[in-house]
Amino acid sequence: MEKSAPTKRAFVKSYGCQMNVYDSSRMTDILADEGYGVATSPEDADLVVFNTCHIREKAAEKTYSELGKLRDIKKSREANGQDMIIAVAGCVAQAEGAEITRREKNVSLVFGPQTFHRLPQYLAKYKATGKAVVETEFPAEEKFASLATRKPTGQNVTAFLTVQEGCDKFCTFCVVPYTRGAEISRTPDDIEQEARALVERGVKEITLLGQNVNAYHGAETDLASLINRLTKIDGLLRIRYTTSHPKDMSTSLIDAHANIEKLMPYLHLPVQSGSDRILKAMNRGHTKKHYVELINSVRAARADIAISGDFIVGFPGETDDDFAATLDLVNEVGYASAYSFKYSPRPGTPAAEKSNQVPDDVATERLYRLQALLLDQQKAFNQKCVAKTLPILLEKPGRQEGQMIGRSPYLQSVHMDHPQGKVGDMVQATILSVGNNSLSSKLAEAVA
Ligand code: 5AD
Ligand code: SF4
Repeated sequence: MEKSAPTKRAFVKSYGCQMNVYDSSRMTDILADEGYGVATSPEDADLVVFNTCHIREKAAEKTYSELGKLRDIKKSREANGQDMIIAVAGCVAQAEGAEITRREKNVSLVFGPQTFHRLPQYLAKYKATGKAVVETEFPAEEKFASLATRKPTGQNVTAFLTVQEGCDKFCTFCVVPYTRGAEISRTPDDIEQEARALVERGVKEITLLGQNVNAYHGAETDLASLINRLTKIDGLLRIRYTTSHPKDMSTSLIDAHANIEKLMPYLHLPVQSGSDRILKAMNRGHTKKHYVELINSVRAARADIAISGDFIVGFPGETDDDFAATLDLVNEVGYASAYSFKYSPRPGTPAAEKSNQVPDDVATERLYRLQALLLDQQKAFNQKCVAKTLPILLEKPGRQEGQMIGRSPYLQSVHMDHPQGKVGDMVQATILSVGNNSLSSKLAEAVA
């Protein structure tokens, strides 16, 4: 039976990490089953879902400023006889629960990352009682079982697929083990089924997601064997995975970079600091030496691999020497891209209790220096690609007529003139020059 056109619309907005982007797309799928079409702005939404991030204070505070902006929109919709239900999902919801409904009276639903599959029940309960529903349980198994039966509805050629969630590492600065719960892996069968459904919808590149994606394990499966299994799917051209932890960087996964052609030469391996003293205080469970050895092994498996990482500056007790060790590490590794952050004390984490917090101006100055170095390295990596011919997966039309934008194996954004190009085509393009955020190229050959 054909579904009738949706009469209600939902605006789902994602903040923070890629896992939230994935969760938001699954919520959109669930809402489609409930008769909600997609709203492009809150103004025309009967339901607004903010899928929030709690990783740093700024991210968490953004939830409240964005909720504040909804007040007038909701009022003017109500003046026109239109309802607007506001839901806060994600890690702020998990961490703050009922505090959100106390601070923002307009919020009707609050639920964490583990229970978004129950959104239809929450909506029904709210509609029946008129009372806010706040849910911060942790039944992750049930969520994955429920997700497995739902068909994805997205339209893109690239997609995220969560294979693992949660974290048992307890880095002393991080809220994730508290907001996302303990490590849990989905079954390989569920993952393959979802991957096949994505490929049937036209997806050509899948990024396997997990807070500790390389800790993935099923019965007799690890991440490398899971990737191997997914390479058998016809029509799936590229596989990526993120985010990895140095402690779980197994030989099998390193070997996969040498042996599996569909696995893209890109590794995001956060290190956070180059100082062993700070790594210990962070409870990272590895040293600088171990990290550098891993990078060397990965490069031995795949010489051209693009290395990416995460860094925190200004962790409690970080001295000038500790920071200098971080700069040394960056110089030793040579990053293709990286994310760096000023330490943000998070409520309930051990590091936030420390008395030796680094003054903000010192941390800010370190961040600028680190970011300048990382930017130089990114430019150098991109510059090395000039004159090379690379396979580019076309993702969207460019701003100018006849232009297409795609991605290189190294995750660089690459644009080119290609009036006949279609989204989803894989083409060979020769890199001409390097801009601020993308590379420009010339079509060498359309590969089909
Ligand atoms: N302060 C600053 N950065 C943080 N990250 C995690 N927690 C904090 C914090 N409290 C960073 C880490 C992590 C990335 C996702 O966010 O670098 O790898
Ligand atoms: Fe947070 Fe550390 Fe777990 Fe990464 S490994 S999610 S930084 S606790």
